[in-house]
Parts: sequence; C-alpha cells; structure tokens
Amino acid sequence: MLKLARAILPARARRRLLRNFLHERKEFLSQQTKALPSVKLEERHIANLKMLVNRKALLRLLPQNGVGCELGVNTGEFSRQILRLANPAKLTLVDPWDTERYGEKKFQAVSKRFADDIAAGRVELIRGYSTEAGKGFADGTFDWVYIDTTHAYELTRDELRLYAHKVKPGGILAGHDYSKGNVVSGVVYGVIDAVQEFCVENDWEFIHLTMEPQTPSFAIRKIGAAA
Ligand SMILES: C[S@@+](CC[C@H](N)C(=O)[O-])C[C@H]1O[C@@H](n2cnc3c(N)ncnc32)[C@H](O)[C@@H]1O
Repeated sequence: MLKLARAILPARARRRLLRNFLHERKEFLSQQTKALPSVKLEERHIANLKMLVNRKALLRLLPQNGVGCELGVNTGEFSRQILRLANPAKLTLVDPWDTERYGEKKFQAVSKRFADDIAAGRVELIRGYSTEAGKGFADGTFDWVYIDTTHAYELTRDELRLYAHKVKPGGILAGHDYSKGNVVSGVVYGVIDAVQEFCVENDWEFIHLTMEPQTPSFAIRKIGAAA
C-alpha cells in the first residue's frame, strides 16, 4: 500500500493523506474515549487494596483448591498457570473460539493440552460466549472468575454484572488489561471504566491491582465480605 502510494503520489499529496489519516484516527479514538462513563472511586473502594508485582502473584493469592472460571482462554497458556498457581479443584474455561485469530485450531489445542484434566473432571471447556455461558451457571458457583475477553466497555460491564451473581458471597471478580487501551494497535479498552462503575454502583472494593505496565490485572470483591 505504502509502496503503491509512493509510486503514484507526489510527496506533498502523500503528506496530506497521512495528516488526514492521523487526524481521523485521533477523532475516532477521542470519540470512543468520550463515550465511556467516568465514575469516581471513593476511599472505601481502595481501603483494602494491595498492589502486586504481576498476575502470577495474583494467582497465588486466589483461594486455593477453589472453584474458578476463566472467561477468554485463547491457547490456554494462562489457564495452565492458573492450574499450577491457584490449584483449583475445578476450573471452567469459557471461550467461543470462533474467529480467524482465535478459532478451531486453538480450541483443538486447548482440548489436547488439558485432555487429562478434562477426563478427570478437573477442567471443563465451554465453547460459547461469556454472557451466554454465564446464564447456565447456578448462582454462587465460583470462588473466583477471571475475565479476559474483548476488553470492550459494554461486554466487561455485562460480564461483571452477570458473574457477580455467579460467585459465592465474598467471591472475587478479577480480570486482565485494566488499562485504557493498547497503545501499539490504537484500540480503546473499557475495562477501567466498567470496573470502577461496577464498584461504585454495587459497593465492591479493589483488593488487588498488578503492576505490569501495559497489561495490569484487577481483583475486586463486595465491600465487607472479608470481615
Ligand atoms: C486475550 S485472549 C485471552 C487470553 C488468555 N486469557 C491468556 O491470558 O492467555 C481473548 C480471548 O477471548 C475470547 N473471547 C472473545 N469474546 C469472548 C466472549 N464474549 N466470551 C468468551 N470469550 C471471548 C477470544 O476468543 C480469545 O480467545
């Protein structure tokens, strides 16, 4: 594309094209960012927050031998770490594996990777969307749920609202990419906005944030649940 533009357009026209493209991209990202809710946290939402160095440290602090769920699995690399570090008695993995990037091959790889644990009933694969699959779980099923799907505001909001009922009283909702977006690909995320809005509207508090610069994780629970 760039080669073609160089071949057929004079330098000044190329510069104008690039300026227009960058301007439109900036406008687009700005619109997307402005569309997100801006809800302010209060001191009580972070009174028990403990920062952690990375999400492996978070896994070590999740209730051991519990019942857990990962939404958004990809190849199951993080699921493998979950099994090792959080040592769940039962782990449910939910993903539709229905796109070109995350498709059939990855589903097959995950099925193979966890074949022994699936046969033993320790791992369950659910091929479906988080919000659809969620309706099939009884309330209070999980000790914790880790959300790592599209990072869009609307989906994260809906996942938090739904899975808040699917964790036990005092259960933990956690997730990846607690950030404003991917700076390299220029994609806006709504995770921060959805999580903060959820905490304020439902009286939940942060218990952990992890310190990876581009891809922090969060963990929240109902205020007063630890007492
Ligand atoms: C970033 S990857 C997950 C990475 C994985 N948790 C890890 O840390 O290695 C995102 C995954 O979310 C899945 N996904 C996208 N939309 C989803 C949805 N609505 N429900 C469940 N999974 C979804 C994609 O198919 C993809 O496999």
